Amino acid sequence: MKFSAFGERFGDQLGVLQLMDDFAALANSNERTLMLGGGNPACLDEVMEVYQQQLQELSNDKARFNAAFGNYDTPVGRMELVDALVKLLNREYGWGIGREHVALTNGSQNAFFCLFNLFGGRRNDGELQRVLLPMAPEYMGYTDVAVGDRFFTSHRPTIEELPNGLFKYHVDFDAVTVSEDIGAMCVSRPTNPTGNVLTDTEINHLDQLAQDNNVPLIVDNAYGAPFPDITAGNITPNWNENTVMCMSLSKIGLPAVRTGIVIARPEIVRKVGAMNAVMNLSPGGIGPSILAPLVDSGEIITLSREHIRPFYKSQAELAQQHLTTELADTPARLHRPEGAIFVWLWMPDLPIDANELYQRLKKKHVVVVPSENFFPGLESDDWRHKRECLRISVAQPKEILIEGLDIIINEVKSLYAGNA
Ligand SMILES: Cc1ncc(COP(=O)(O)O)c(C=O)c1O
Repeated sequence: MKFSAFGERFGDQLGVLQLMDDFAALANSNERTLMLGGGNPACLDEVMEVYQQQLQELSNDKARFNAAFGNYDTPVGRMELVDALVKLLNREYGWGIGREHVALTNGSQNAFFCLFNLFGGRRNDGELQRVLLPMAPEYMGYTDVAVGDRFFTSHRPTIEELPNGLFKYHVDFDAVTVSEDIGAMCVSRPTNPTGNVLTDTEINHLDQLAQDNNVPLIVDNAYGAPFPDITAGNITPNWNENTVMCMSLSKIGLPAVRTGIVIARPEIVRKVGAMNAVMNLSPGGIGPSILAPLVDSGEIITLSREHIRPFYKSQAELAQQHLTTELADTPARLHRPEGAIFVWLWMPDLPIDANELYQRLKKKHVVVVPSENFFPGLESDDWRHKRECLRISVAQPKEILIEGLDIIINEVKSLYAGNA
């Protein structure tokens, strides 16, 4: 059997595959494992009950049920959700968008596969066009989506030291340049893995850079406003014809429905629709059917503000308090938790790499994600920091979170003390 070069790329060595396999194996093993690793959101009772109710109403309504389960939707997805999104985003933010600005996808991971390959890769003139990630660490799910040549390029951030064992990354605008071979720029905001939220000044600067160079700025808003709005402070997402805003139903608690949202100028939306048609005929309609009434009424914003956001805020505060107090006598520092569902621990000069720490913690039944995975576009850069951090999910119930953090804290302390 001979695979194509494209086929060969999908080997067992893919980082994202190894981690997803690892998580699944651990979750299904008989051993008790503290899962502080994956990006799975919490199942919050108050929120899940609302989705359950919606599903029941959908099942009881023959016409809607038939439409949701018995039809292919358009290549850009189910119009019931598209129209509700247009209404909500125009009402909340005054974006002035219409149907033609929205495409749904089978999860936002799928949207990134489309978008990155639309803007990165070989051009018709044979030159390689790249996607610029202005700052790494960045979401590991971007790493392997390039069909053909790898095309990400990224930059180290600057590091602001903050009081009380905290730090924050900033975009290093002295380093970030948009050369002729750049086809698009992309940032996640809030950022997976670090919980960073780029400041308004940074995002405006990036927007200007993108416009000046005639490349789109892709903003991965999987954790941002208006839903799930997992942010410590208020952020108002900006959109203009040069922005490609990506959203998802996953972090509101519906990762299994696999629904992503792309808001962009019509030319880009049509391309995403064409890719949907080739890969899926149309994106799945069940998630959009469940969510459309909640978007239409605005209830999804209330759910986000009253349940989802406060839950993650209190989880992140707990983790921050525990880690910074217990590790205060070590060089370890925590990225200031500003959003998303993770905290990011930096352990300068730790005697072992984060990968080895991950393996050791796994033996103690705690699963986290080592930092080596989060530097797409910076692979060849031998920066020690890349091997000195851990991403820790705060989505688990408090007692599990604390139990896992205690095991991490003990291991890190022993390593710094030279006892491990
Ligand atoms: C920043 C970010 N973007 C995109 C995704 C993909 O999400 P989904 O495909 O579930 O919509 C994730 C998932 O964890 C993420 O953290």
